[in-house]
Amino acid sequence: MTGGAVAMGAGMLSNSKAALGEGFDRNLDRGDAAILRFLAAAELVEADLWGQYAELGGVANGTPNAYQNAFMNLDGDGPQYITSNTLDEVSHADFLNAYLASKGESPVNLDAFRTLQGSKATGAQNIGRLTNLMHLTVDTSWYTRYRSTTNPDLGATFPQALNITNRSAIPVTDADFDNPTHIQAIADIAAFHFGSIEQGGTSLYAALSQKVTGAQALEITLGIGGSEIAHFLEWVDFAGNAVQGPPITDQGLTFPDFNDPPNPQLQTNLIFPIPCEFINANLPKCAVIRPLTDQFAGAQAAVQSLTASGLFSGQSKDFFATLGQLAEQADAARRLP
Ligand SMILES: [Fe+2]
Ligand SMILES: [Fe+2]
Repeated sequence: MTGGAVAMGAGMLSNSKAALGEGFDRNLDRGDAAILRFLAAAELVEADLWGQYAELGGVANGTPNAYQNAFMNLDGDGPQYITSNTLDEVSHADFLNAYLASKGESPVNLDAFRTLQGSKATGAQNIGRLTNLMHLTVDTSWYTRYRSTTNPDLGATFPQALNITNRSAIPVTDADFDNPTHIQAIADIAAFHFGSIEQGGTSLYAALSQKVTGAQALEITLGIGGSEIAHFLEWVDFAGNAVQGPPITDQGLTFPDFNDPPNPQLQTNLIFPIPCEFINANLPKCAVIRPLTDQFAGAQAAVQSLTASGLFSGQSKDFFATLGQLAEQADAARRLP
């Protein structure tokens, strides 16, 4: 059912092994291979969505467009951060697939699913996409969750900071550049989506790391996972810049001033994880990533939440079957003694 989407790299494999030399011949633990394969797929998804953001809102060649200016209103370095985050995701995907191949595992290839229409605005490449940024229902509960003393892994739930339902996070056509409030709202939606994506990556790597058996596989998940955490932290601060100062409203969506009236659940400069319940509510509160459990942060949970966000709007049954199978296999992995 996966068709040609998950291709064997048999020819490439022997070459990679020879190129990488001694120490790369030990086979991967089955569970570790499943984990790294799902992560490779997740990174291809990240690289695809970030690529769309970077084409329109990343570092400008020449005069910035209105979307880039809107990001610079949030942070003068916004476009650079978008471009950098994109390059990081591409490096994650490339590394994971090359590592899998070096271990005799099939790399993950989602090219068959690059079928979605992207933006038609100037700057966007006219190529098929894996992801759809034009109908997003952004889960903004990460914003309130990280300012709460309770923990989803211990059963807590969190309100949405903003209700962003079926909105585009990128300009769809050049007409979207014309109205300053409208393009600022699009950039502000994107800012909250950045936080949502990188928070998800942060939790996913932390959850899957607990199931890894081999030391080198753990080195990889901790190493790349740390990069996701670094991204997340910047976007926490960045999104906060969209909700301080004078409110704006576009097409029924308001970005209010979260500091007026003062409310610690929304306060924009609380950018680090607030200490929360951890492991057991009777233990002292602790500043940690959350969630960290399979149920809320595992591979299948990640696919479920990305799907619910509309990120895969228009994708085929085969796409969901492929991603779902990779996620199921990753979640089935167990750390061996
Ligand atoms: Fe990544
Ligand atoms: Fe990421």
